[in-house]
Amino acid sequence: MPNPPAHRLLVLFAHPSLQRSRVHRRLLAEVAARPDVTLHDLYEAYPDFEIDVPREQRLLAEHDTILLQHPLYWYSTPPLVKQWEDLVLEHGWAYGAQGTALRSKRAVSVVSAGGREEAYRPEGRNRYSVEELLRPLEATWRLCGVTPLVPFVVHGTHRLDASGIEAEAARYGAFLDLLAAGGGEAIP
Ligand SMILES: Cc1cc2nc3c(=O)[nH]c(=O)nc-3n(C[C@H](O)[C@H](O)[C@H](O)COP(=O)(O)O)c2cc1C
Repeated sequence: MPNPPAHRLLVLFAHPSLQRSRVHRRLLAEVAARPDVTLHDLYEAYPDFEIDVPREQRLLAEHDTILLQHPLYWYSTPPLVKQWEDLVLEHGWAYGAQGTALRSKRAVSVVSAGGREEAYRPEGRNRYSVEELLRPLEATWRLCGVTPLVPFVVHGTHRLDASGIEAEAARYGAFLDLLAAGGGEAIP
């Protein structure tokens, strides 16, 4: 039996309309090409939002690095991610005096945004960077003793042509390999 990889990656994927996706559909192929990486499609598993909490907690416990992959929806996550947080990250399991299940794990957001990078600057129309907009998630991970990593962001999805999407997929593949090897930059 080969040794298990040092950093088991779990991709929690949330896209409310994958059938219309251009970017995440291609990013997912990078995940699928890596058999050591676990892909869990939340909208496929829970179209009715009825989340199986023990199953989700088991999945989290079995992995070292959690990737939360989704399109940016109104400067935030699609709604099923919020529902997942509310139900899965239970007091006494994920946080609180007895809640130590996630301690020493790592988490990172993998997000696509229609807006270009220039729009997500202090002088841009959205003012805040995607990393800043994702602070509630970062704070949530910190409360659970999880180390949040600097997000992987694909900007300007509306303007990406086929070759642009290929370039982002290659960048994502390299990012997955980096994480699997234990790399990745923690948010200070
Ligand atoms: C309901 C909804 C809300 C969105 N909100 C944002 C947003 O706040 N900021 C942004 O840059 N793009 C926003 N978008 C654009 C999506 O992020 C973009 O279409 C998606 O990242 C493209 O990835 P895909 O090809 O995998 O669907 C929104 C799209 C929808 C449908």
